[in-house]
Amino acid sequence: MAQETSQKVGAVLVVGGGVGGMQASLDLAEAGYKVYLVEKGPSIGGVMAQLDKTFPTNDCAMCTLAPRMVDCGGHLNIEKLTYSEIESIEGSVGNFSVRVRKKARYVDPDKCTGCGECVESCLVKNIVYLEPPAIPKIELEEDKRVKVDEIISRYEGGRESLVPILQGITNEFNWLPRELLMRVAEVKQIPLEHILRIATFYKAFSLEPRGKHIVTVCMGTACHVKGAQRILERFERELAINTGETTPDMQFTLEAVRCIGCCGLSPVVTVGDDLYGKLSPAKAAKILEEYRD
Ligand code: FES
Repeated sequence: MAQETSQKVGAVLVVGGGVGGMQASLDLAEAGYKVYLVEKGPSIGGVMAQLDKTFPTNDCAMCTLAPRMVDCGGHLNIEKLTYSEIESIEGSVGNFSVRVRKKARYVDPDKCTGCGECVESCLVKNIVYLEPPAIPKIELEEDKRVKVDEIISRYEGGRESLVPILQGITNEFNWLPRELLMRVAEVKQIPLEHILRIATFYKAFSLEPRGKHIVTVCMGTACHVKGAQRILERFERELAINTGETTPDMQFTLEAVRCIGCCGLSPVVTVGDDLYGKLSPAKAAKILEEYRD
């Protein structure tokens, strides 16, 4: 619901129903102004209600707050617009138009007695459980199905077995084809969105096809100062791809990582499980020859 408030003289709008806003509203109301107190929360009071004692007097926060809340609540000159936010302000001194959006409470405040029964019937709190949507039928080649089923069968349990299963699929296929993830979802009864969340979280998993050989250049600090950038550029030139890409013949994927824990050998490159240290760009280029088909 949008409510437009336009007063030219003698009306004030206070934004925020915390202790400061309430005190300002009370002072202005006592001075004879009509006050519109706008608060985005469902009630005035602000964060002070969450405090126990206040510094430096060690006064009880509620003892400070409660009298102001009561005074504000009952003051005829203060119109409280709770659960509301300001959408726009136009005009100039003495003649402002303010547009306030009042959010729906789904409760009629005139009829509310504060019994709390609506809380018991709350649809958000009392979550409605629905049957999970059916997982669509997967078209999977027989040999892939056999392989992925074998990997899945190695691990018992539900979600806790997901990471080892994804590692198994990566070891076998070098990446995570979507249809195999759907098969994991089907067998383990895990939502596909959850599987994709895990698969995209870890750098070791890829949702794109990767080459037979993963060439990884360490770009950590130790390797960087020893010329890792030049090695990476040399690989890009030799393979004619950018970092993160795969050669068209699916032989090599080039990746950059942060420190692989062998700083004493920097600059360091790995190809699959093989590690090469103390490299120069020329030596790095020769390594590729060992892996070319
Ligand atoms: S910075 Fe490259 S191995 Fe540590």
